[in-house]
Amino acid sequence: MANKAQAQRERLEALLEETRLYPPTQEFRKQANWNDAFVYERARKDVESFWAERAESLAWIKRWDKVLDWKPPAAKWFVGGKLNVTYNCVDRHAASTRRDKAAIIWEGEPGDSRVLTFGALEREVNRCANALKSLGVKKGDRVAVYMGMTPELPVTLLACAKIGAPHSVVFGGFSAESLRERINDAQAKVLVTADGAWRRGNVVLLKANADEALRGAPSVEKVIVLRRVGDKAPCAMQRPRDLWWHDLVDKAQDQCAPEAMDSEDVLYILYTSGTTGKPKGVVHTSAGYLLGTSVTHRAIFDVKESDVYWCTADIGWVTGHSYIVYGPLANGCTSLMYEGSLDYPDRGRFWQIVAKYGVNILYTAPTAIRTFMRWGTDWPNQHDLSSLRVLGTVGEPINPEAWMWYHKNIGRERCPIVDTWWQTETGMILISPLPGLTATKPGSATKPFPGIEAEVLDERGRPVGPGGGGYLVLTRPWPAMFRTIYGDPERYERQYWSRFPGKYFTGDGAKVDADGYFWLLGRVDDVMNVSGHRISTFEVESALVDHDAVAEAAVIGKTHEVKGQGIAAFVTLKEGVTASDKLKHELREHVARKIGALARPDDVFFTLELPKTRSAKIMRRLLRDIAEGQVLGDTTTLADPGVVAKLKTQYEEEGLVD
Ligand code: PRX
Repeated sequence: MANKAQAQRERLEALLEETRLYPPTQEFRKQANWNDAFVYERARKDVESFWAERAESLAWIKRWDKVLDWKPPAAKWFVGGKLNVTYNCVDRHAASTRRDKAAIIWEGEPGDSRVLTFGALEREVNRCANALKSLGVKKGDRVAVYMGMTPELPVTLLACAKIGAPHSVVFGGFSAESLRERINDAQAKVLVTADGAWRRGNVVLLKANADEALRGAPSVEKVIVLRRVGDKAPCAMQRPRDLWWHDLVDKAQDQCAPEAMDSEDVLYILYTSGTTGKPKGVVHTSAGYLLGTSVTHRAIFDVKESDVYWCTADIGWVTGHSYIVYGPLANGCTSLMYEGSLDYPDRGRFWQIVAKYGVNILYTAPTAIRTFMRWGTDWPNQHDLSSLRVLGTVGEPINPEAWMWYHKNIGRERCPIVDTWWQTETGMILISPLPGLTATKPGSATKPFPGIEAEVLDERGRPVGPGGGGYLVLTRPWPAMFRTIYGDPERYERQYWSRFPGKYFTGDGAKVDADGYFWLLGRVDDVMNVSGHRISTFEVESALVDHDAVAEAAVIGKTHEVKGQGIAAFVTLKEGVTASDKLKHELREHVARKIGALARPDDVFFTLELPKTRSAKIMRRLLRDIAEGQVLGDTTTLADPGVVAKLKTQYEEEGLVD
């Protein structure tokens, strides 16, 4: 961790010089949903009442008996209560004056768009729910979902939630093998997929990948296939396993009674990377999750009834689950979803969408902002962005320069920026400004949400004073927290709750400044954050050593101007294999094929040896020093210190240090 600590110290020093402060304007504060600072105090004093009061606005089938049952690390929220998440997100709005209000605005690749009102969404969801039932899916059965960003994706999620079948969404950019691993871990009974997805005018072959995955996934009995790209992709239907969406769902009945779900019944599983090669199935349950996502959505984005809200994430990640689907829809909000990429058909695409729909709230990732910065202000300047009122960021630390660019060029210096810190595991935003209350500082996620208690600890678990860096932990349970790792409760306890007993260890470094503001400093474990995507170094290493030419591999995250981190791989080859540029290319593609394009290494560096300790452990921190062009850290524990010095020289000679 020494090199990470050094990189974090540097970020910290730079941030300590950050003194700019942006308080909310009087005008914004006056109209904000949450504008009474007393809310923090009240939540601190009686956190259970704080959440219980807000839970009153959900529709319950049976009211809870007890707000919280906390036996660390096991939490139960709204014990004894029953509700249905989809009823709360769709049906109750469809039965109200919101019936004809847009629930989902879908903007596809150029030329394609669709609006689903709450009334229409209710019917679609019911059809899909009935279709799943007709395939034998019952409460508790897992449904795997592998689709592109089309409206049928949220429809499928909501249909699963309606009948109480936990969904497990696998991001459409993942490979067949990644899909297979996740399906098998969850033992999914049904897979919902599409023939393909559009990406920059090209087709991503989803069904072909799904077929390959299913060759080793015997739990899946039926596959529903949405036709999205038609004759643009080969799509071999395997009868009787495979059924077309338009044959099954479109013809199903459009009424479906919601399943009464216990507060603690599983809503979904979502896989994320941890510090081993095996992805973890993060388990979220019903009532607390629904409450946590909807309350934070309303408070942090200051959502109003007539707003068009756009979160640019993919529903394959937690941001899409919580802040495209569940949070916004629970609030009866119009949620825009976008199928395409940043620059197709041109680099003004985002701003054209903002202008087309009059987007009021935009929630995106720092990596996107840094890309826009590179493209220059002409692109946003060509479009009318005056509808924007609140801007959000998520997924990785935002550097003050990118924050300022966003503030000036997109927010036109009038929109508050909410930098929201959270994780797949936390389910909901935990550290963020409240736009009507918090004076923001560029680069800081500011303060824990009311009712959330966060601390920064040193190695030994002692609180670090203002200005010092340390480990970010959460000291109290919160409603949307994950409840376990699917099939591995022991890992839940060991990985998150035993480093600092009774406290949730986030895996992030942070510091708190003299004003009590939190500054996130990046991961302190072997997880990389590449363009806001979480990837474990071990996953990439396993993919590399799976290649015939590779003897050993060590992978590290390396600072990247746009992506936050890039992936650097150090590889030793098997005897008799010759290093070449062609082989480098092949290895990069091999990883992309094994895991997905998001894990493709930026650099592959061949070496005859890797630096190891006397007990044969690869010293990744020294590889980080090399990749970042830093002075080498402590090398005294190395078996052969000469190896690392030579490696550093070679690496620099190849021009791989920025
Ligand atoms: O390191 C933190 C970073 O993203 C990690 C969580 O990744 P994931 O589970 O994929 O969820 C991403 C979207 C919620 C965290 O451990 N991270 C997320 N948001 C921020 C952040 N780092 C700094 N600032 C943020 N706002």
